[in-house]
Amino acid sequence: MNTINIAIDGPAGAGKSTIAKMVSAKLGYIYVDTGALYRTIALYITENNIPDDEIVKSLDGAEVSLKFIDGAQRVYLGDRDVSDLIRTPEISMAASKVSTIPAVRDYLFEMQKKIARENNVIMDGRDIGTVVLPDAQVKIFLTASAEERASRRYKELSDKLGCPCYEEILSDIIERDRNDMNRKTAPLRQAEDAVLVDTTNLGLEESAEEISRIISEKLSSGGKM
Ligand code: DC
Repeated sequence: MNTINIAIDGPAGAGKSTIAKMVSAKLGYIYVDTGALYRTIALYITENNIPDDEIVKSLDGAEVSLKFIDGAQRVYLGDRDVSDLIRTPEISMAASKVSTIPAVRDYLFEMQKKIARENNVIMDGRDIGTVVLPDAQVKIFLTASAEERASRRYKELSDKLGCPCYEEILSDIIERDRNDMNRKTAPLRQAEDAVLVDTTNLGLEESAEEISRIISEKLSSGGKM
């Protein structure tokens, strides 16, 4: 079966997941949030207090898996649904750190490829257009200024976790950008054939419309340009 694969990469807080969810629901595709996989490994390492020099060896016992329930992705550690537990600032930073380890990326690589082989997907992450799905029919690099991303995250988190301060969120975002862009294996970067979308001055609806427009244009012109 030939599936349609749409890759959306970009830094933390650019709106990838919200926009990808909206667009995938419209297209009837599966939305795959690959950051959740790295976050789940980070949770596994944190919960089990695994020291740095034992991380690679410990991956055999990690048992990370994804399920799609009514189109919504849930991530599991063993038989435990950890989809909500992985959404803390500590796990965000730990995921960024653990994602620099090549063995962690290898461990998750085939899982991502398989889902894209078997389903029409919008997959978001950091290396989807460059490494995981280099042949994706549509590639988008979604970004926004660090200040705008921090202010969005601030609004999102202050509803859920009390009141983390804006400066702390901004410095976390800048540190994660630095980690994600400068790691040796599969760093965050725009694929040569990706379309750049800067959402700094775009609302959610406008951003989703722009992404939908790019997708239908690319797909009607036969995929990759
Ligand atoms: O998208 P996110 O913020 O949930 O991702 C958490 C971390 O996981 C991110 O800082 C870097 C890493 N990540 C990655 O290295 N490659 C991906 N495809 C997705 C996420």
